[in-house]
Amino acid sequence: MDSPSRSNSLWKGKGKAKATDVDFEDLNPIITYRHLHSHNLSPRDPLRAIALCDSDAFYAACEQMRLGVDPAIPLVVRQWDSLIAVNYPARKFGISRMDRWDDALKKCPELKIVHVATYKEGDAEPGYWEKPDTRTHKVSLDYYRRESAKIYTMFKEGLPGAEIEKASIDEAFIDFTRPVREKLLERYPYLATVPDDAPEGIDSPLPPPPPISWDGLGVVVPIHPTADEEEQLLEDDNLTTWSDVALSIAAEMMGKVRADIHATLGYTLSAGIARNKFLAKLTASYRKPNNQSILRNYAIPDYLKPMPFQKIRFLGGKLGEALAREYDVKTCGDLLPISLEEMQRKFGEDSIWVYEILRGIDRSEVKEKSALTKSMLASKNLAEPVTKPSEGSHWIRVLAAELTLRLNDAREQSPGLWPKSIVLSIRQGWHLGRSKQAPFPFSRTVTADLIAAAGDKLWKELIGFDDSKPLPIKITHVGLSFTGIASTESGQRNIEGFFKAPDSMKIEERGTKRKSSATTEECAESTAITASRIVKDLDPGASSPTYFDCGRCGKRMSLPDDICDAEVGDDIKKQALAVLHTAHEDFHLALDLSRMPEEGTKTVKFRPDPPKKKKVRRSEPGGIARFLVKK
Ligand code: CTP
Ligand code: CA
Ligand code: CA
Repeated sequence: MDSPSRSNSLWKGKGKAKATDVDFEDLNPIITYRHLHSHNLSPRDPLRAIALCDSDAFYAACEQMRLGVDPAIPLVVRQWDSLIAVNYPARKFGISRMDRWDDALKKCPELKIVHVATYKEGDAEPGYWEKPDTRTHKVSLDYYRRESAKIYTMFKEGLPGAEIEKASIDEAFIDFTRPVREKLLERYPYLATVPDDAPEGIDSPLPPPPPISWDGLGVVVPIHPTADEEEQLLEDDNLTTWSDVALSIAAEMMGKVRADIHATLGYTLSAGIARNKFLAKLTASYRKPNNQSILRNYAIPDYLKPMPFQKIRFLGGKLGEALAREYDVKTCGDLLPISLEEMQRKFGEDSIWVYEILRGIDRSEVKEKSALTKSMLASKNLAEPVTKPSEGSHWIRVLAAELTLRLNDAREQSPGLWPKSIVLSIRQGWHLGRSKQAPFPFSRTVTADLIAAAGDKLWKELIGFDDSKPLPIKITHVGLSFTGIASTESGQRNIEGFFKAPDSMKIEERGTKRKSSATTEECAESTAITASRIVKDLDPGASSPTYFDCGRCGKRMSLPDDICDAEVGDDIKKQALAVLHTAHEDFHLALDLSRMPEEGTKTVKFRPDPPKKKKVRRSEPGGIARFLVKK
């Protein structure tokens, strides 16, 4: 249910004047007993309180904690020649992630430089080596992943009743609405019952809210950043709303869990607290590090208006550029005069989300992700391409070590986990590749040797080990992945089926054009190409794809938002997309398998899917899609 704007007399004095801006008319909605007592908390709830909590200089903090380095010492994490994390003391020297490690050292000679852990052949665990070499080693983010899991566990344990969505390796959205609601009723017991003389019963507005002391709750974004009397305004009870009370309770809870995490694990985190995910994310970087900032509804207009809209998620790419060009404008405020009708006429129906975002409206939900990972991929972009078949074993052993560690980590949480299949994929860039998969036999103990043996077998079938035979492609990317990871309970039922399946099957990706009824081969080829093309259009700065259109079933397979938006390296996005790709291939493969005439066949001839309906959107994208796909 949408809440109408408040225009009645409950609110007197200065407070009333703040909500007159027509673009931000929902800053002070009427909040009734019905809202407060509703068990069904929707994104339209006027007492929503959402936080985005992000770890400060995360990888750098992980290394600082691991090594016991004083947090005041400038420290960076290096990956080959570049930097992937810079702590706050190092930032004071003007060092940023854009710097090369040697340039950073020039800016700060006492800089502590830690190279990210790497796997080398034969080792079960990644290590920190004196001189890791990209030609032989592979980066491992496992330590950060484990630390990230510890932080997430502390969120879960410290915030019962809150919905928590891990959004990237170092950040999470937290929906405090439910626990805040409980706290409100506990703290203000008079809200628990509708007064007998309430004029509209349960639909009567709540009584005026109590004053709030923001002391110790974080930085409150000012309502009018330029006003001198800001201090006074903040303390003015007339400006306080029940939504502010909700945000202040969320801030209390957030502050406590941040302090607990700092005390237990040593990490500092920064948080933004506001009425929705979009605003929480924007507010989280208001004062970093080790701070939390609160954006009250009344502070939204002046916070958003001066913000360059191209800095907003999804408006950084082609769409943002088109808007900037069309209207010759920069800030969110500049776009406010454009009516919804005009925006939709020019940019399509879906551009209503742009219209709403500019007004601080975002109804997306905080959704906890399933704990179960369905696939895992270890992959390596080869600076020096593999040129001889015999060189494969080295990388397979390196990748096998990573998969072993990750599967065993996951098994600590769910002991029965096992992957249905193992997939080896090789590529030349992103345009040409081959992959081969085989069922992965169930085993109680997973060792790197076991995985490497399965990988070697696939390599042998795909490439062979005969150095006198030329490689089918120049191999610049090797990936080894597990797909169809399930817990034993569901897995066991299928074990028999898997052992009956053909022992391996081949998917080749060839340079053929997509046809209306594509075979698996064509499907894989075209998806890789589509993906790299789309991404260039979507975000000129981005180099790694975030989704692909399956040429076989026509479905668009996108990375989950958390990965797309996460400030993770391109490498991680590429890996994630490759996992998605493999999993999707796997799905088609399973479908093909189920159509196979007889059991035990070695070579699978895939039956083409029935001709698909013509997809109008694909060939002639309209509306907002024009800005997301290549013309
Ligand atoms: N990261 C990365 N590649 C990028 C961006 C980020 O590998 N292109 C990693 C960083 O090493 C970082 C982590 O992802 O530690 C989280 O990224 P982000 O939150 O953007 O940066 P932080 O380093 O945590 O710094 P901040 O305090 O600004 O959040
Ligand atoms: Ca961070
Ligand atoms: Ca982050």
